[in-house]
Amino acid sequence: MQKTHCSVVVLISGNGTNLQALIDSSVSSNYKIAAVISNKSDAFGLVRAERANIPTAFIDHRDYQSREQFDLALIKSIDSFSPDLIVLAGFMRILSPAFVQHYQAKILNIHPSLLPAYRGTDTHQRVLDAGEKEHGVSVHFVTEELDGGPVIAREKIKIEPNDSVDTLAEKVHAKEHIIYPKVVSWFAAGRLHMQTNKAYLDHDLLPETGIEITPS
Ligand code: GRF
Repeated sequence: MQKTHCSVVVLISGNGTNLQALIDSSVSSNYKIAAVISNKSDAFGLVRAERANIPTAFIDHRDYQSREQFDLALIKSIDSFSPDLIVLAGFMRILSPAFVQHYQAKILNIHPSLLPAYRGTDTHQRVLDAGEKEHGVSVHFVTEELDGGPVIAREKIKIEPNDSVDTLAEKVHAKEHIIYPKVVSWFAAGRLHMQTNKAYLDHDLLPETGIEITPS
C-alpha cells in the first residue's frame, strides 16, 4: 500500500500543549503521529497521546549510565515506529551527536525565543531582564549545536510594559501552537530540507532567521 502520510514520532517531557496542537492538526493534515515518547513518566503529554489513541513509550533517562546509552535506547524505540520525522515538543534532554547523526536532517525543534537570540532555558525571564521590545518563537532543524540548527520559521510577539514571565509564556505558546503544525506539514509535503547546515523551503535557501510568519 502506498504511504500517503508522513509518519512522525514526537518526543516530550511535560505538559504537551504543542503535542496537542500537532494531534489536533494531524486530523486534517498530511502527517500522522505514529508514537509519543517521554523521558518522564508523569508527562501529561502521555495522557494526551493515549486519549488520541496514539502509542506511547516511557524511557527513563535515569536508568542509563550515560547520555549515549539513553539515546541508544531512545533510537531503538523510535525506530520501531519507522518514522520519517522526529519532532521535539518540550523534550528536556540534550541529544548526543550519535542521535542527531542517526536522524540527520529529520529532527525539528520548537524554541521559545527569536533564534539565534536566547538559546537555552529561561528565555522569557532573560528577554524581560534585557529590556527587549519583542520576543517570539522559532522552529528549527536540530543539529549537534544546542538550539543552533538552521531556523525554518519564526513568529514575533510584542513585549508590553506589563508583561511577566507568565504572560509571555502564554503569548508564545499561542504562537507555537500555530507555527509548529504548519512547519511539520511543510516537511511532510517534502517542501523542507536541510543540507550542509542550511534550511531550504521549496528549494529556496532560507535566511538565517527563517521565514517570518505573520498572524493571519
Ligand atoms: C515550549 O515552550 C517549547 O517552545 C519548548 O518547550 C515548551 C513545551 O511546552 N521547547 P508544551 O509541553 O508543548 O506545553
